This record gives sequence, C-alpha cells and structure tokens, in this order.
Amino acid sequence: MAIPTRILLVSFAALIFFIQCSRAKTVTHDFNVTWVTANPDGLHPRKVVGINGQWPLPVIEVDKGDRLVVNVYNALGDKNTTIHWHGMFQNNTNHMDGPSMVTQCPIVPGASFTYNFTVNQNGTYWYHCHTDACYPDGYRQALIVHDQDAFFNEMYDEEFTLTMSDWYHELVEDITFISVTNPTGAEPVPDSFLVNDTQNSSLAVEPGKTYLLRLVNMGAFVGMYFYIEDHSFQIVEMDGVYTDPTEADLLYISVAQRYSILVTTKNSTAKNYPIVTVVDSSLLDAIQPTLQLNHTNWLEYNTTADHPQALMPASDSSDLTPFDDMTLIPHDRTPLLPDPDIVIEITAIMDNLANGAGYAFFNNISYTRPKVPTLYSVLSSGDLATNPTIYGEYTHPTVLGHNQVVDIVLNNGDTGSHPFHLHGHNFQLLTRFPSYADGFFTYADTDNPVTFNPSNHSSFPAYPPRRDTLVVPPQGYIVIRFIADNPGIWLFHCHIDWHLMQGLAMVLIEAPTQIQQRTTIPEDHWAACSAAGVSGVGNAAGNAEDLLDLSGENRQVAWLPAGFTTRGIVAMVFSCVAAVLGLGVVGVYGMSGNNEECSQVVSRYFQG
Ligand code: C2O
Repeated sequence: MAIPTRILLVSFAALIFFIQCSRAKTVTHDFNVTWVTANPDGLHPRKVVGINGQWPLPVIEVDKGDRLVVNVYNALGDKNTTIHWHGMFQNNTNHMDGPSMVTQCPIVPGASFTYNFTVNQNGTYWYHCHTDACYPDGYRQALIVHDQDAFFNEMYDEEFTLTMSDWYHELVEDITFISVTNPTGAEPVPDSFLVNDTQNSSLAVEPGKTYLLRLVNMGAFVGMYFYIEDHSFQIVEMDGVYTDPTEADLLYISVAQRYSILVTTKNSTAKNYPIVTVVDSSLLDAIQPTLQLNHTNWLEYNTTADHPQALMPASDSSDLTPFDDMTLIPHDRTPLLPDPDIVIEITAIMDNLANGAGYAFFNNISYTRPKVPTLYSVLSSGDLATNPTIYGEYTHPTVLGHNQVVDIVLNNGDTGSHPFHLHGHNFQLLTRFPSYADGFFTYADTDNPVTFNPSNHSSFPAYPPRRDTLVVPPQGYIVIRFIADNPGIWLFHCHIDWHLMQGLAMVLIEAPTQIQQRTTIPEDHWAACSAAGVSGVGNAAGNAEDLLDLSGENRQVAWLPAGFTTRGIVAMVFSCVAAVLGLGVVGVYGMSGNNEECSQVVSRYFQG
C-alpha cells in the first residue's frame, strides 16, 4: 500500500511542477537608454535618463517563476550605466545583479549588455542604475512580481503601485558634493518630491472596495512618512516578504524600502482623501523656506468633489511615530536562525580625508572600487578565491563559507540615520536601538552613541521580520542575521546614493568555491569589459600573475595628519576662499595697469 501512495505523491508533485513551469513565460524588454527632457514638478525642465525615448520609465511586471530578459543599449553618449534589480536574490545568476565593478563592468556609451534571470520571488521590487551615482538622474522604476498564490489575493479588488522619490533639478555631475568646499559632507538637499513621478495626482477608487497599494521609495536620499487621512490599512508585504496582515496608519519608508498595504474604501463618495507623503526633515541639513516638505495626492472617490490639501501643517516630521517594522511577523513563520557562525561587526562613521572632502567609513575603510570586478577576481583566482587579500583592502571584503549563519552587527557612530541594504538576500531583523517609539529620530541630539552589547540586549523575536533594507538610528545599532545559502558577491551598503559615493559599502564574498562551480559569464558581459577597457581577470589590483601582490590597487584618499579636525578644514576652506577672492580683487586692480609692480606679482601668483 505504501509504494503506490508514494508514486501517487511523486507524480502529483511532478504535475504541480509541470503546471508551474508551463505557466512560466519569458518577459523581454529592449532598453535603449538615452537622455530625454522631463519636468515632473513643473518647476524646472531637466535632462533625465530615458528608456526608448520615454520618462517616466516603464514599470516592469512579471509573474513569479518568469524569466526576465532585458537587453540594454547605452546610447547616453557621455555616461556609463548598469541596472540592479533591487531585492532579487539572483540565485545562480550573481553576474546579473548589476553593481558595476562588483559583478560586472560598467556599460560604457555604445556598449550593450543583456540581463537574463529567473524570478523566483514575489512582491514589490524596483530597478535602478548602479554605477557612478546614476539613478538620481531618473534611472529608477518599480518592478512588480505578481503571485497567483499570494495569501492575500482574495482580499482585494484592484491594485495600484505608488512610487515616491526625492528630485533634483541638476544632474548629479553638476552637483558639488565630495569636495573640499563641502568639508562636512552635507548631502545635496532635493529640490522637490514626487509621487509616481509627478505631483497632485489621484488614484481613482470606488466605495466599499479593497485595494492593494504597492509602495516604493525609489529616491536617492530622503525617507518618507506615508499615511492616508481617515484610513488605516493592513500591511501584507515588506520588501518582498509576505507578513501577517497587520494594522497600521503611518509608515516610514526609507529609500529602497517597499510595503504592500490593503486599503478598504469608505461607503460614501462624498469626499476625496489626501494620501500624504512627508519628508523626514531630520535628514536635511538646510531647508529653504520654499521647499515643500509634505505632499498631497488623493484617494479619489469623486472627481467632482473637492481635492483638499493635507491637514498637516507645513510639515515638521519630528513628532511622527511610524509603525515599527521590527514588530511584523513573516507570513511563512520562518523561525529565528540558529546562533551565528560568523559575526561581522562594523561601525559606520563619516569623516574627512586628507583632500579635505567628507567620506564615509565602515571600520575606517571607505569602499573604493577595485580594478577588476570582484566576481571576476573570484572566477580567475582558483584556490586563492577564499583568501580575502586578493580582493584588496579598500573593497572591504569578508569571505563567507557556504551555508554559514551570518550576523551583521552595525553600530552607527554617525548622527544621521542610514538605510542599509544587502544584495542577494533578505535578512532577519533581530534588534534595533533606539526603537521608533523610543527616540529613534531624536537620538542624534544626545552625545551618547550606544553600541550593541552581545551579553545584554532585548531578546530576539521567535519569528523575526525579514527585509532587504533596514534603517539604523542615529548613534544606535541594528543586528541582522541571514544564512549564506546564495553563492555570490554581494554588496552591503547605505542606500543613500550620496553615502554610497562616499564609500559607505563593503563586499561579502559568499561561498567563492561554489561561485566558481556555478557561474559562466556570457560573451556580451566580457565584451562590455573590453569596451570599458577593464580587465576581467586578476586580483583587485588587476594583477593576474601574482594574486597576492596588490601593489597598484585603488586606495581611498589618505587620512588627515593627526590633529586636523572638520572645524580646522572649514576654517582652512574659508581662508583659502578669502585668499582667492582677495587675490582676485588685487588681480583685477593690478591688471587695470595702475600699478606695474603689483600686476607683475599677481600674474606670477596665478601662473605659479
Ligand atoms: Cu538598490 Cu546596491 O542597491
């Protein structure tokens, strides 16, 4: 009796597998990447990165199990590109992950590159450029993975995607940031804020229905609060992970984070209700009085009724307490992973280097790109692939063994909050200090950074929430855990694009031997390297002969001699500026010919 039952079960499983496979399809996009002009806030037309002559960019939609193929041609003429599929695990397809000089070469103007991978995940994701701070120029959009088996499918009538984003009027390359003239590293303040790449828009709804709203913050810098006046909602997904439906009425969504929520509409169509996004102003260094910090879009029940502005007065976010993502329960009830095999302990700080500019550091290392993409170093280094030395000091490599349980303990020595993202995984959220309710956003004002103490901390949840991007409080800490079951090179970094530019990143070399066994790089990926003049073999210094010789590797700028402080740099910058202005004045006076001797001295200065 036992054997026929087993045969029956196996054939049933095979049938299910067959049905799922035959359901899967290939979704292909051709992306011709060019500059176009857009003016989404109506304040300033600017150059943005368009696809096939269009901006906003296409939302990509696939079904779970599909293959996604995107053929990229870089027709920008003057800028490199790549695409990262934020939140996709890329299991066995690490080379499709997208960050340049990590898993591929940059796609230079005139070059092509095909991304091709199977999507075995579900939920709300996004895609964005991942080289040289290219996504704030508009190269980002939502990526939705529908799932016929989602537990909440029967719970809603219709769905909407709602993206939010900060917006700059200048091209990234025209914004002065890492510079001696910006010694404090003040992040550029956005010029405005968008919802669905526009402003003052409406979602048309009917009374007495339930809607699934997919929320994505695809900005480069600023976290947003989100609520709908007079409506609470149920959270059912966080960063691609289904959660037990959980009631909330205010979310904080950092850049790169996503939520799906169920919103049930009222029975009356008398009013329209503001959907409100509020800028986390604690992140902004200087706020111009003209900058509008809260924005209203509408849940539109009635096109002819009033579209009222949000009740919230022109916006101070400091007294908002959002729903705490640390308390969500994953719907699959994956329990807390066992104690870690390896603990990566890092402290994030911002500081100046000897050129006077501001940089960002994990344990005093500011990520500096290697000369060979790290994945290609793995593939060309044989047995030495398990030796972190070959990846260079300034990529900040950590080698992980296959299936190790990994903890990252991140202590934030900085007075700003940071949204940290890990490629290739989501991770369990074990603890965070301080919590949203307990001074998260005000802790910066204390002079009292608190670091994680392994022998004295709040107990870890039995079913920890999981996500791929988590915000660490100012001067506080987070502890996250994951299992190294996805061989690949995975970047761990702050998702504020300015901070990534400043080096707030490190690489995890996960199961290098398994990477070597499983990875074949397609021809067009090598061709992209040739076009870029980047070597596809050797260590981080590009040395393919002696892998342990890192001489010539890219290094971060040297540290300031001891005793220099930020204040000293500010003083130095101002005295230099004053000196240059002074010389300019003297120069103009001197060149006017009134004083021969002076004009000679001045021209000697300028030539010297
Ligand atoms: Cu959206 Cu490196 O990440």
